[in-house]
Amino acid sequence: MTDALDPLIALRPWEAPEVTSWGRLPMNAVDRRSGALTLDGDWRFRLLPAPDAPAGGSWSSSYVPGAWTLQGTDDLPQYTNVRMPFAEFPPASPAANPTGVYEREVDVPAEWTGRRIVLQVGAAESVLLVHVDGRPVGISKDSHLAAEFDLTAHVRPGERATLRLTVVKWSDASHIEDQDQWWHGGVTRSVLLYATDPLHLADVTVRARHDGGLCVDCRVRDTRGALPGDWYVSAELDGHLLTQDEEFDRANAQEERVSDFLGEARLRTTVPDVRTWTAETPELYGLTVRLHRADGTVADTSHHRIGFRDVEIVGRDLLVNGERVFIRGVNRHDFHPLTGRTVSYDDMRADLVLLKRFGFNAIRTAHYPNDPALYDLADELGFYVVDEADIESHDHAHEIADDPRYLGAFVDRVARMVLRDKNHPSIIIWSLGNESDYGANHDAAAGWVRRHDPTRPVQYEGAAKRGWADPDMASDIACPMYAPLEECLAHAMSGIQTKPLIQCEYSHAMGNSNGTLADHWAAIETTPGLQGGFIWEFWDHGILQRVNDGRPAGRGGAGLYDNGVAAPGHRWAYGGDFAETVHDGAFIADGVVFPDRTPKPVMFEHREIAAPVRIDCFRHEGVVLGNHQHFRGLDWLSGEWELSLADGGTLTGPAELPDLRPGETAAVPLPFELPEGGGEAWLTLRVTTAGDEPWAPRGTVVCLPQVRLRTVSPVEHTPVTNRPVDVDEDGLLVHPLLTAAPTLSLWRAPTDNDELGGMAARWRRWGLQAPARKVVSVRRDPGRVAVAADYLCQGGTVRHEQVFTAVEGGLLVEEMAELPEALADVARVGSVFETAAGLNLLEWFGQGPWESYPDRAAGAPVGHHSLPVDELFTPYLRPQESGGRHGVRRFTLSAPDATGLAVRLDRPRQVSVTRHRATDLAAAAHHDELVPRAGCVVHIDAVHRGLGTASCGPDTFASYLVPAGVHRWSWTLRVL
Ligand code: GAL
Ligand code: MG
Repeated sequence: MTDALDPLIALRPWEAPEVTSWGRLPMNAVDRRSGALTLDGDWRFRLLPAPDAPAGGSWSSSYVPGAWTLQGTDDLPQYTNVRMPFAEFPPASPAANPTGVYEREVDVPAEWTGRRIVLQVGAAESVLLVHVDGRPVGISKDSHLAAEFDLTAHVRPGERATLRLTVVKWSDASHIEDQDQWWHGGVTRSVLLYATDPLHLADVTVRARHDGGLCVDCRVRDTRGALPGDWYVSAELDGHLLTQDEEFDRANAQEERVSDFLGEARLRTTVPDVRTWTAETPELYGLTVRLHRADGTVADTSHHRIGFRDVEIVGRDLLVNGERVFIRGVNRHDFHPLTGRTVSYDDMRADLVLLKRFGFNAIRTAHYPNDPALYDLADELGFYVVDEADIESHDHAHEIADDPRYLGAFVDRVARMVLRDKNHPSIIIWSLGNESDYGANHDAAAGWVRRHDPTRPVQYEGAAKRGWADPDMASDIACPMYAPLEECLAHAMSGIQTKPLIQCEYSHAMGNSNGTLADHWAAIETTPGLQGGFIWEFWDHGILQRVNDGRPAGRGGAGLYDNGVAAPGHRWAYGGDFAETVHDGAFIADGVVFPDRTPKPVMFEHREIAAPVRIDCFRHEGVVLGNHQHFRGLDWLSGEWELSLADGGTLTGPAELPDLRPGETAAVPLPFELPEGGGEAWLTLRVTTAGDEPWAPRGTVVCLPQVRLRTVSPVEHTPVTNRPVDVDEDGLLVHPLLTAAPTLSLWRAPTDNDELGGMAARWRRWGLQAPARKVVSVRRDPGRVAVAADYLCQGGTVRHEQVFTAVEGGLLVEEMAELPEALADVARVGSVFETAAGLNLLEWFGQGPWESYPDRAAGAPVGHHSLPVDELFTPYLRPQESGGRHGVRRFTLSAPDATGLAVRLDRPRQVSVTRHRATDLAAAAHHDELVPRAGCVVHIDAVHRGLGTASCGPDTFASYLVPAGVHRWSWTLRVL
């Protein structure tokens, strides 16, 4: 119910950037969870067309915390990247401005009489107006941080009060919350009511150094006014009392800084033999701070879990506890496919557990302060965190960065983040926000942080953009996004580097992507000055949607997805799926996990790149193992050797991991006598957790480092002239198991990288998806047919030759394709054929078991693998090339009765076996539109283009492109 005479409405705070809050309490780091009353649950709700619209319509209900855009209203989610969803210039917002009014009654506990009563609203997008019993209480902006209001004067203990939260969706603040994500409206984090003594801890600041030094600063206030005399603060760390810093008290007294209404106290201790905190060793201590009245009774308490660690920049290195650490990071949004930006503790924990299992050690909270529990979990599980303020003015970045009307908002947002999060050991860097150009407003915010928290570096990509080595107020880190590797290398070797180079975003994970990740890491690990980066991003932000009515499934959709795929009748919605006319399509689906957190194949690539123990080299007498961690030994790991013989199966045996400190190596003898025969041989060290880790039960795979012990011996073929080769008048092979003969394939269903990088458009122009095939010659000899055909593309003709020879045990297919110069850089050069139905199992010797591509093949070990055909395919949200396996030497495709076909390749090749033609994939916009074929579509590629990351950032390297010229490949086909 809004009322134009209501001062909170009359003020029109949604179009006043200078108004960042009114009546809101200062942010602080005091823990208020214990004893708080939760106000989560169903609230009375109505959605008005504008904040100043007359109240009307009937009440429905809405669940808090949650977004109304996902709870059955007609205001649906909308996705835009850079552009604002409305035309108004900052600070204006549109007249049509959905405004949610939430109401509920609260019974204020009678025992709160005489206490200070505080309302905490965890998050509201984007302007929050608070009323109690119809009277105005406060205003807050800054959609991803809590707002607290003192309700002591507004409620009476023992009585019932009506709370109203009015949430205005569009405002001046929307212009600085223009992050690349869905737009929602709602109260998206929990709402609490708590009570304290009027004499209370106003803030607690912890500084815990890795030498064991601990300093705790407390601020004390009394809402009745002057502080009562002789209050004092005590603190204990896991049972040990800290001591008052008398020097601090004396200095305050001497400099006349002792105040009547702001109390300050400093406590100290030094912990002998301190267990230091790092992402590898997340050792936490329990700190309890108590505020006492003169008689010793406790007026207030705050619990903290703290970690002893230091961060500093020395030269161009970022050091944690004196060590230059690699930042194996990912950008993470608060996201859930049913509830949007509302995420539960369990979900956050699952996110971090998964990241740990796949070798990540760092998170950038792109692009706003995350749910507070995320940081507790990062402290506990071990992550380095770049905490980012909620400032992104992407569409109007230049205008806003220096606009004095937004000065307060910039400083307020950065300061509130630092005030809330400063005690987390996991946070090693503050970020001033994202994609907001660079202006005086940033320097003002940076100045505030530098004074308030001199213990951590500050970063801001918009400042780093001006020059990676430029001295500036806003960035201690050279933190570009999507910088080409050669530029990073050039900078590191230029002699002008002054700051650690850690990309805030790189390796864009949209669709089938993250090509060249291993090349990046090979360079990072060997180039002083390069220290890592944050992959963009963790989530594919697909919202679970019912296909029949186009509505988000919302909280009712629990369980309606599995293994990355939405249940029948549902799909993962991306931009445009809610009938938005202004949107940016599938660009919102660019994570390393599916919307249900199922890992994409790139996760396995990352796990291997981040391997803590590696086979550094192979010598005759054995292998050299290296500990590639920064702080831990190998005692938490156990190993098993696997010897995979191309023609002889797999042998396993226990592996003894040597006792190695970080950075050390040791030679270990070969565990096996290499058997004489058996062909190509690979040794894999299967490394698992030796005991239970907080993020992985004992036996969880940590990495699978591998070395080749013996190479391939070329296969000899014996032709048989008395068996005919059956080829039709067009020169197409006729074979009982094939429903479509092998033909030349030059195309793949464009990946998102192919589309956004412009390759797909070029391939379409060239007509690569279906070039006309013109037979040039068919030459039949006993047991041998040679076919030449031309594939007529726009801009050039590709000559394709196939020689089919009957050989002992099957058919040898020798192929040649000559790609003219004008058609350099196609998707693939290879054969494609289709099989009869019923061949449902693929067994292969090659890289696997998960999907791999030429420039994303570092994490798929060579070995004997087997998977049902239906599980080979990766269900990227927007269908595209998928399911490939790199380095395949041979495979069989069989029916349950073991009939089928066997293919042996001349050398390791890219192979894919799916139920979809490339044209099927390219024609579908969502996974649920695909109709699997009964048979298999098999691709054998002489060359396959790398994936790169061109949807946002660099394409693959030249070495992974398909060059013009002659390509030859051969394979044998045998009936089982
Ligand atoms: C960056 C931006 C991210 C996201 C990404 C592309 O420019 O910071 O928010 O838009 O590109 O997915
Ligand atoms: Mg942006």
